[in-house]
Amino acid sequence: MNSNNTAQADIGLIGLAVMGSNLALNIAENGYRVAVNNRTASKIDNFVAEAGELRDQIVPNADLGDFVRSIKQPRSIIIMVKAGAPVDMTIEALLPHLDEGDAIIEAGNANYRDSVRRFEELTPKGIGFLGIGVSGGEEGARHGPSIMVGGSKAQWHNAEEVLTAISAKFNGESCCAYLGSSGAGHFVKTIHNGIEYADMQMIAEVYGVMRDGLNMSALACAEVFKSWNEGPLNSYLIEITGLVLEAVDDKTGKPLVELILDKAGQKGTGRWSAIAAQELGVAATTIEGAVAARSMSALKDERIAAEKIYGASDSVDISVTLKQLEQALLAGKIAAYAQGFAILSKASEDNKWDLPLGTIARIWRAGCIIRSGFLDQMAASYDKGVAVNLMVAPEFVEVMQQNQGALRQVVAAGALGAYPMPCLGAALAYFDSYRQSRGTANIIQGQRDFFGAHGFVLMDRDGEQHGDWPSTLD
Ligand code: 6PG
Repeated sequence: MNSNNTAQADIGLIGLAVMGSNLALNIAENGYRVAVNNRTASKIDNFVAEAGELRDQIVPNADLGDFVRSIKQPRSIIIMVKAGAPVDMTIEALLPHLDEGDAIIEAGNANYRDSVRRFEELTPKGIGFLGIGVSGGEEGARHGPSIMVGGSKAQWHNAEEVLTAISAKFNGESCCAYLGSSGAGHFVKTIHNGIEYADMQMIAEVYGVMRDGLNMSALACAEVFKSWNEGPLNSYLIEITGLVLEAVDDKTGKPLVELILDKAGQKGTGRWSAIAAQELGVAATTIEGAVAARSMSALKDERIAAEKIYGASDSVDISVTLKQLEQALLAGKIAAYAQGFAILSKASEDNKWDLPLGTIARIWRAGCIIRSGFLDQMAASYDKGVAVNLMVAPEFVEVMQQNQGALRQVVAAGALGAYPMPCLGAALAYFDSYRQSRGTANIIQGQRDFFGAHGFVLMDRDGEQHGDWPSTLD
């Protein structure tokens, strides 16, 4: 290995798996010198060998001490290793080599609680901690991800130039921003992924109606998604759905999507998002529905057995149009994004993070997986400082009014045709409950008081009341 300790790198990066390598190349391509290190030294050699003309911008070092010393002070060191214990081990190994004012930038899909803990452990040691959410997959990491920054503000300024340069741009504006202290960056990334889960699941539900209810081929579905991407649904996820649907398996000549096993993986961020919503007391039913749908998808054997008992779900003729499916998806997505932003808003309040919701919407407009045309409008809504919930922001009121009827038709058709809609159904129920001034929780309060004397409020008098309930013992 060629270790060049005199070279002064602008930033360091540990962890040369796909995401780390791509981020390092992105940094190099933007004209910054990047020091790189990896636990398995051979990976460093391979990385440098494959870096082509960017090689001159890379300062490789297998020795951790030499790696640290090759970076300009105050140092910014990105860690891109597997989330969890490997991150803590890497921090532990780095610490003896760092100087006061240096910063560790954790860029994996960390649980935000770990980021809060790491921030609290490192701050008293004089070491900055930045937990950054990086979205956009492998391609994003290489050519411009959306970067959600949280943690030590002073050290953010040391890394700001490089992180801003490597991020995605929307109309020239960088999709990288400091969002708040401690674990704020990873929290925002977690909620981004919760929305991602809901968005993907809603697309899957609509695809299910097309495939099983309307008997459309994968290619026909692909054409529809492609055309939708030209309209109000314009987004990365709609675009790639069209591309996934049109892919053909080389071996069989069949649409690839029809050969892919219907069991979805999940690494945890969607679940963390749903747990956060529950803990904060925010109704995020589309995200919960999406996580549950992935868990249900994993039960392939049980589903096969149950279908033998109840019959397949494609026996009922349903009448929905492609236009209604498009509109339902739009209304459902807005409800999902509204729920995601509602979690952010409550977390911001409870943790005193002061999360800038408009900025978050803005840095999601490019680079990240949930980038969508309507995020620009969402950013504008938050910038105007309106709305407790996006569904009552004037721009979106009109969209919901125009499309909620279709959402209702599609969910009703799904119910009649036995096409499961855990997410679109949740979106409709959320919309209907949110806009219902007189709900049904009065009966819940009556029941709670009946069996547990939990009390209730009467609308025509002050203070907590109790009912004089009959006994059910005799
Ligand atoms: C992103 C993605 C990325 C990753 C997810 C996948 O924003 O770039 O969210 O972080 O693809 O972690 O998560 P699941 O494996 O849980 O679907």
